Amino acid sequence: MDIERIKLIAREAGEIMLTAVRPQVMEKEGHANFCTETDEKIQAFLIEKLKEVVPEASFLGEEDGQDVFTDKMSQGYCFVLDPIDGTSNFIYAYRPSVVSIALLKDGKAYMGVVYNPYDDMMFTAVTGQGAYLNGERIMSSELPLSDSLSVFGTAPYYTELQDKTFEIAKKLLPLCVDLRRSGTAAWDMCCVAMGRCGLYYELRIQLWDYAAAALIASEAGCTLTDVSGNPLSYKGATSVICSARGVREIPDCFKN
Ligand code: IPD
Ligand code: CA
Ligand code: CA
Repeated sequence: MDIERIKLIAREAGEIMLTAVRPQVMEKEGHANFCTETDEKIQAFLIEKLKEVVPEASFLGEEDGQDVFTDKMSQGYCFVLDPIDGTSNFIYAYRPSVVSIALLKDGKAYMGVVYNPYDDMMFTAVTGQGAYLNGERIMSSELPLSDSLSVFGTAPYYTELQDKTFEIAKKLLPLCVDLRRSGTAAWDMCCVAMGRCGLYYELRIQLWDYAAAALIASEAGCTLTDVSGNPLSYKGATSVICSARGVREIPDCFKN
């Protein structure tokens, strides 16, 4: 698998993001769930280019209606794409937003590329071969939670999860240094992977939000589970806790 070609494609996709004119916003289902012409343009670009790299691969992408995980996707190669993770950041020019490309092999995470074009930060991982930022090996922090920042996602499209999300946040705040909310789940997990944060959680994200970044974080020594402590399914929507090496067990705030 030629990861260098995939990195070039992610970089070009990032260039489309950076040079886009003021976004044309389209509503999708759910609270504040937006899509722009640029999301669609980047996804079409990624599919066209990635087909040349792995012609036999199937595709699961956020923006073209191919958003349901099927049995076919758990056989052979399947690209899982989020052309812009952080669309509301993109719309309001609140940085960052990232391009997320995962490649599953027989239903398991095989390769992940997450690119933040605003800071030119390219995160990559191949299973069993470590995680890298711009070609340098990265490992998650060994600091305990009490000496770490935590970051969380608000699961904004699922209003029924708001109370629970903020109950956990309120209990987590005194256990760590402070809380952050970036607006992109893939970026949040990369922040745990590179040692900026000790823990990330969100009560519901989709496969395209986590597939690439979860592999990167896992290769950087992070532990990834759902809120009940089960390993991630890589099949569809799930809750996620991503904790750095220094956070040795799931904090009590996730227990009822
Ligand atoms: C969203 C972002 C956000 C997270 C949401 C995701 P989108 O993805 O990752 O941080 O809180 O759960 O859906 O819609 O910007 O691609
Ligand atoms: Ca997303
Ligand atoms: Ca998106």
